[in-house]
Amino acid sequence: MSPLSSTWQCPSNIAIVKYWGKKGFQLPANPSVSFTLQECTTTTTLQAFQHPGRRNPEVQLYFDGEYNEPFTHRARNYFHELAATLKWLKSYDFEITTTNNFPHGAGIASSASAYGALGLCLASIEQALGLTDSENFLQRASFLARLGSGSASRSVYGGWVIWGKTLFQDKSSDKYALPLDTQQIHPLFLTLQDSIIIVSDQSKSVSSTVGHGMMQNHPYAKLRYARANEHTQKLISILQQGDWESFAHICQTEALDLHAMMMTSENPFLLLKPQTLQWIEWIKEWKIQENLKITYTLDAGPNLHILYPDTESIKVRKHIENALERSETLKVIHDRIGQGPMPLTSQTLKNG
Ligand code: PMV
Repeated sequence: MSPLSSTWQCPSNIAIVKYWGKKGFQLPANPSVSFTLQECTTTTTLQAFQHPGRRNPEVQLYFDGEYNEPFTHRARNYFHELAATLKWLKSYDFEITTTNNFPHGAGIASSASAYGALGLCLASIEQALGLTDSENFLQRASFLARLGSGSASRSVYGGWVIWGKTLFQDKSSDKYALPLDTQQIHPLFLTLQDSIIIVSDQSKSVSSTVGHGMMQNHPYAKLRYARANEHTQKLISILQQGDWESFAHICQTEALDLHAMMMTSENPFLLLKPQTLQWIEWIKEWKIQENLKITYTLDAGPNLHILYPDTESIKVRKHIENALERSETLKVIHDRIGQGPMPLTSQTLKNG
């Protein structure tokens, strides 16, 4: 019998209000808000081969065309955790073929697009088996993606996305993300550009999993979670009003809060590089010189995301090009807010 198969291309996302700290099993300690990128994507094919009677599904992962042992190990753990509650998984073995179009582990959230794609593939196969209806498809994919990587729950939607229960957003949930209504978002934030300055393409020295764990007994955890809640509330209304300066302020505060948490944990660590700080200084200069609408954010890594509306693209990109010539920056990836994932193939027949 031919295997069930699904292929999705899923973008990464960048959080403005950051998720940093967990509670329970893969639930966020505070709400987070991100926008989904357009260019930085993972493409994944998931094949499910019928094999009844397994205690746990067998999983193999091929990354960039080659069998990858560390990624297989992580994917296998993910499937085994899922199989404890999703019994159908025990009747199949899985083969994952995946590729990224951006550097892995360098602060562009590769786990977000990777688990986003996997969640979508799994939800497609569940749909082919008649286990998920199309009405709840993206919510289901977000739920499944979250169990692999929290930030991935947000990548299954395009545009602006919120994950985590908060009083300030109807129907918000810790279990899955929801898109913010595009009709409610000011045009300034629907054309947002993100030039990602790659100062290092090395894997991070401390993984996000370890970083989240360090929030458990962090001296500032309570304050951090309260600030993230307050920033979520403010950001939702800023996105509606189109207030650039307040947006810029939240972006920078959240970026530096995230890295401050790393630097002030019991086992402090620092992911920023001198080049990161240099670029932050340059952005401040450009903003003052030309009164630009420009700001920045950071993920859990040294690479800087420079944010600006598309009306500023020509000026900002000229500055970036000039700065690239006088710095040791590896490269820049010009990305922007995107439409969300795309199915490349999916199984539509129900497998009886
Ligand atoms: O999704 P994880 O478990 O890799 O955590 C990533 C958290 C940050 O990327 C640092 C912030 C976020 O909200 O995306």
